[in-house]
Amino acid sequence: ITINKTKFRSAKKELEIQYTVSTPSESGPAVLAVTKENDETLPSSEAISLLNSDTVRQASGGEGNEKRGNGGNIGSASGEGGQVVTPWEVEGDQEIDYDKLIKSFGSMRITESLVSRIERLTNRKCHRFLRRGLFFSHRDLTQLLDLYEKGTKFYLYTGRGPSSESLHLGHLIPFHFTRYLQEAFDVPLVIQLTDDEKFQFKQGLALEECHRLAYENAKDVIACGFDVKKTFIFSDLDYIQYLYPTVLKIQKLVTFNQARGIFGFTESDSCGKIAFPAVQAAPSFPSSFPVPLKGCLDMPCLIPCAIDQDAYFRMTRDVAPRLGCKKPSLIHSKFFPGLEGKGGKMSASAEQSAIYVTDTGKKIKTKISRAFSGGQETAELQKELGADLEVDVAYQYLTFFSEDDDELETIGKEYKAGRMMTGQVKGRLIELLTAMVKEHQDRRATVGDEILREFMRVRELEF
Ligand code: TYM
Ligand code: TRP
Repeated sequence: ITINKTKFRSAKKELEIQYTVSTPSESGPAVLAVTKENDETLPSSEAISLLNSDTVRQASGGEGNEKRGNGGNIGSASGEGGQVVTPWEVEGDQEIDYDKLIKSFGSMRITESLVSRIERLTNRKCHRFLRRGLFFSHRDLTQLLDLYEKGTKFYLYTGRGPSSESLHLGHLIPFHFTRYLQEAFDVPLVIQLTDDEKFQFKQGLALEECHRLAYENAKDVIACGFDVKKTFIFSDLDYIQYLYPTVLKIQKLVTFNQARGIFGFTESDSCGKIAFPAVQAAPSFPSSFPVPLKGCLDMPCLIPCAIDQDAYFRMTRDVAPRLGCKKPSLIHSKFFPGLEGKGGKMSASAEQSAIYVTDTGKKIKTKISRAFSGGQETAELQKELGADLEVDVAYQYLTFFSEDDDELETIGKEYKAGRMMTGQVKGRLIELLTAMVKEHQDRRATVGDEILREFMRVRELEF
């Protein structure tokens, strides 16, 4: 379905907007609604749920209206493929279809020419996540780079919901990437720890516990190597007084209907849940950081995150113009898969599927040995048929974490052709991950209370 907005002068010379819908199967567009410009009340709830985001294109995959109003998620790409991608759930019968996500969320693919442009602008080779298409989608990144080229610095915003004692390898993806962006573009960074979110959304977690976990997780985030002079980490519980004015302005612009359309809330969800998205939206605007960003209210914002977080930022981008603010730009990653492979992401709620940054070398070895393999049952069959790289967890992990392009290519070629066995590939991965996790643990051990306090102190950042 395509939704078009057309502005025109009515007979009474008032500026009006006409919303039309067209579907590929229909001959002509149908008029959905006509409203006065700036008129906040859209005519029907159907129109509201269709227009609730800045996403113009929606999935045409068999999603009925009742389902939408009933917790079905308009922002998720569900349909024949049966995949669901929301901030709380990532699930697919098969591999996640990322092309379909781009289409249904209405984001843009990161092209090779965009990657080359980033290399030119930053004067260095791109991070492997970009070279290998692991960060694959964006919103308004081109505009952000245009501004950067003309000398306008942006700030980076990312975050973590502190629901577990430590991070897993999937969480490292956005943080490692954000560190690269901070260095390459030399820009300030804010990191939100949503202890409030985890309290509202997770059963059985006390508020004090969420707050404590935020501080524990902050140490792991710091261990990813951020520059303390340019990085501000905050817990929502601590920092809310600074966020609150922006949160309130956002909340006033989002109706329950819209929140339900974007996030799939139902009448029986607590009002805390329904109020929360504005808290994750607020740091996208510089008004949330009067001290760290020194009152530069015009600074553009770039948000690196996995694509599951996109719903929050569709809402954010939708309200931005009405707040008189720039829409934040986004750069989305694919999911780091769980050990059992296929359709989904490594998740802290499925403990067996995850490798934690606190795991010992021995534990990593056992976990990888059990990981889903795309290789054949026996050595003979493997020699004959070769491995299916797409579903092979060990190979997928190497594409995320091996720095060496040549080695990765060789392993891919040999393994696929059956000249390499699963055991060898897993062996190489175990070696690599053990070293990486050990390095992380060593760095985390140096993060004492004093360093932690400095990162989390409300202060001016250097830029
Ligand atoms: P959380 O804690 O679930 O995840 C933190 C970040 O890690 C990404 N992520 C993954 N990336 C790749 N593969 C995986 N298997 C994987 N699992 C998690 C998430 O997409 C996220 O980027 N509500 C957020 C916190 C938040 C936030 C933000 C995130 C607040 N503001 C702004 C991004 C941008 C949360 O609970 O993330
Ligand atoms: N909402 C995310 C989660 O539930 C955590 C989060 C908060 C986040 N702020 C963020 C993630 C900014 C990425 C960017 O996991």
